[in-house]
Amino acid sequence: MTTVNSVTDLTLDGEVAVITLNSPPVNALSAPVREGLFEGFKAAGADAAAKAIVLICEGRTFIAGADIAGFGSAPVGPSLAEVQAMMESSPKPVIAAIHGTALGGGLEVALCANYRVAVPSAKVGLPEVNLGLIPGAGGTQRLPRIVGAEKALEMVTSGVHVAAKEAAAMGLVDELVEEGKLREGAVAFARKVLAEGRPLKRVRDNDDKVAPARGHPEIFANFRKANARKFRGFLAPEQNIRAVEAAVNLPFDQGLIEERRLFDEVMAGPQTGAQRYAFFAERAANKIPDVPDDTPIRPIKKVGVLGSGTMGGGIAISFINAGFDVVVVDMKQEALDRGLGVIRSTVTKNAERAGLTPAQTEARLANTRGSLDMAEAFKDVDLVIEAVFEDMGVKKDVFAKLDAICKPGAILASNTSYLDLDEIASVTKRPQDVIGMHYFSPANIMKLLEVVRGAKTAKDVLATVMKIGKQTGKVPVVSGVGPGFIGNRMLRQRGLQAEALVLDGADPATIDKLMYDFGFPMGPFQMMDVVGMDVIKDLPGQLSIRGAMFNAGRLGQKGVGGFYNYDANRNQSPSPEAAEVVEGFRKAKGATARPVSDEEIMDRSLLLVINEGAKILEEGIAIRSSDIDTIWLNGYGWPVYRGGPMYYADQLGLKNVVAKLKQYQAKLGDEWKPAALLEKLAAEGKGFADFKR
Ligand code: 3HC
Repeated sequence: MTTVNSVTDLTLDGEVAVITLNSPPVNALSAPVREGLFEGFKAAGADAAAKAIVLICEGRTFIAGADIAGFGSAPVGPSLAEVQAMMESSPKPVIAAIHGTALGGGLEVALCANYRVAVPSAKVGLPEVNLGLIPGAGGTQRLPRIVGAEKALEMVTSGVHVAAKEAAAMGLVDELVEEGKLREGAVAFARKVLAEGRPLKRVRDNDDKVAPARGHPEIFANFRKANARKFRGFLAPEQNIRAVEAAVNLPFDQGLIEERRLFDEVMAGPQTGAQRYAFFAERAANKIPDVPDDTPIRPIKKVGVLGSGTMGGGIAISFINAGFDVVVVDMKQEALDRGLGVIRSTVTKNAERAGLTPAQTEARLANTRGSLDMAEAFKDVDLVIEAVFEDMGVKKDVFAKLDAICKPGAILASNTSYLDLDEIASVTKRPQDVIGMHYFSPANIMKLLEVVRGAKTAKDVLATVMKIGKQTGKVPVVSGVGPGFIGNRMLRQRGLQAEALVLDGADPATIDKLMYDFGFPMGPFQMMDVVGMDVIKDLPGQLSIRGAMFNAGRLGQKGVGGFYNYDANRNQSPSPEAAEVVEGFRKAKGATARPVSDEEIMDRSLLLVINEGAKILEEGIAIRSSDIDTIWLNGYGWPVYRGGPMYYADQLGLKNVVAKLKQYQAKLGDEWKPAALLEKLAAEGKGFADFKR
């Protein structure tokens, strides 16, 4: 074995040279990795005994892409293009041996090999779009030259990780090799290539795959049209489409130049910074300062869910899909039957989509059952999550029962969205085992999981729930105890302002449109129509606009309409009836309508959300500002290309945020007083991102 550099070595296995990269955690293409590859290929090329070259990686994965953390720093050593040119011009066949995830620059490196082999569990993809980018190392030019323009369009605009089997069917992978035997398989494949004298085919030369789309601009026009809703607001999907168009219409080398131009454009644009921030924010959320990475985890296999309605059912589905044994408990047979029916059909649909066989689906469901008997069902569960009515009395009653029923060491979780977890825990003899798992509806789809850490929650309980959250496909974020935790507490401010703005004269439809144009999936009044006024109507004695709508018999989409009217397909249109309700509401409150500018609507809809975030940070309810952003990106529809409310505030400049809050404070009262932390950071010329606890 020869050491090439700190992360690369070279061995000769008969006549096959094997270059091995080892740069944890994900073999990203940092300067040492690029250098190792460049020098490795040079040495293998120069070694007369080597007739073919295999590139393989140590650790959990093949190269997972460019080093995202290193973007923007001055280039050092060989560029990726130089590495790729070295590979592509090799007179000896080059084979990339893939396990884990060959993503972005990783797949782009593999596409410069003559052949690719992979283990069945491997995945490949070009996910740059999710970072607000396009592939910048020939991916948009080489991929269509294997899979054709249409498939390439889908892959680069979705960033999907394609499973090895499917990749093999597309020709992206030449051969699947046995799991766990990648190195042997790749070397054997290399020998076969040599023995059969297979040609040194290069992806870049394969024009046949792109030729059919040439002269057919409608392919691209149709693709844009079909995905317009999905791509709304994002810059990167369009750049990716243009790059694939270039692959179809231009000779390879010119296409590469166009790809670079398009890449530079998005790189210099306003969105990628936010999207890369979001990537690291999500990962940072897993790090809890006083809970070390090696904190022991409690084994969780069997999970109990109390409540089989929409929320309980959604939670159960997440666990079943992730392979846990699940028992669902409800009070009445009818409710339980209905709930289990929905759970089974959703799990079956999900399994079909994931390519599971009917037998595998059955196996998933075999360990799912329902029960009316909580004591029997929950006596041996490792984790139980209650999703019962949001009322302190009810929750306390449930936790007292769980305390009596569950085995020692079981984790007792509440799905409360608002209540004091410590008070709930206080009725048990084991508050250290109690934690909040606040899911968002529909719980099997929404990714956010607010993990509520009580004053006495044990560290291993917290570490276990964070891990389980990830395993079940969620984005878990820690919150301390406080009314509404993080997300709902901030959202409340937006709701209150929406209402106040309407009283001042703003039209609900204008507020909705501005929020939609900002990038939210819908505005606050559209959301009320979806949820239903019956669900969110007033507490007694507090007339609000939704209460007025409720009193007028306008429940929202589920009824005759709410703030809008709807046709049979739920297309919304302005509602004169709703306008009357709004007018009546203003009168009842003694308010006089005045013109309200778009700027005021935007300010008032967002600034108090940010200010509340600052208070949450100051109080230690959130660990770091990026956790707050992760919550808003994954649970509240904040557009990822704007990074979240705290990131957005940092972009505006905290000095400007404070100045605006003070203007509104003078006009509208002390609820607009900037949070102390916000004022302090602004005075120091810092942003929320600089705040360290
Ligand atoms: N650059 C730098 N760091 C990276 C990275 C990358 N490309 N990919 C992952 N990491 C880091 C993570 O930040 C994390 O660090 P931490 O432990 O300090 O928090 C660590 O590697 C492990 O990552 P995950 O926690 O995400 O581990 P998983 O096993 O859950 O997932 C993964 C692994 C699927 C590779 C996932 O990390 C991922 O999707 N990474 C991003 C892949 C990507 O977007 N690649 C394209 C990059 S852009 C590019 O290549 C441009 C090119 O076209 C020129």
